[in-house]
Amino acid sequence: MVNKIRSCVFISGNGSNLRSLIKSSRDYNFPIKIKLIISNNPNAKGLRFAKQYSIPYKFFSSDNKEKFERNSLFEIKKKKIKFLCLAGFMKILSKNFIKAFGYKIVNIHPSLLPKYKGLNTHTRAIKNKDKYSGCTVHFVNSKLDSGKIILQKNVKIKRRDTLNTLTKKVLLEEHKLYPKAISKVFNN
Ligand code: GAR
Repeated sequence: MVNKIRSCVFISGNGSNLRSLIKSSRDYNFPIKIKLIISNNPNAKGLRFAKQYSIPYKFFSSDNKEKFERNSLFEIKKKKIKFLCLAGFMKILSKNFIKAFGYKIVNIHPSLLPKYKGLNTHTRAIKNKDKYSGCTVHFVNSKLDSGKIILQKNVKIKRRDTLNTLTKKVLLEEHKLYPKAISKVFNN
């Protein structure tokens, strides 16, 4: 694919979804290329993938959200970014940021939305004795985990599952679902 969409990924932590997106983006037919990675955590383990794959990256503190968004927008515009993926990014973006960016933003969330928006999704699913957990890729709007759903994947919760085993199982599915959802955004 000649004209891949110049994209940015926001992270806060381990970056395993970032890694899966970087790997997918190296496929000829994947619609996006990752030109910038922004972390709001200076110690995010995921930054090691930026270094490993020689992708430009920035850390901006989000202690002051307005400043974080202003700094991020500046870099995003400078790099002519036209698509933003949130991958384990643990802050809510403001309406102003979303509007000022002006292009599509997507997020991956570890639950079957609209169930369990916010944090501790697997703990809540186990506590409620749900038969399934899973993950969702959705567009980002100004309400938490509420934008239009692009794709979802169920993961069965077995009786012996713990927070740890369920988190791992769902994460493995996230790594497949996120690239698939991004292909769907641009190919459908
Ligand atoms: C993933 O499970 C992702 O769905 C979740 O954080 C984890 C990040 O893992 N995101 C959220 O909870 C967003 N509200 P990673 O850093 O290894 O990709």
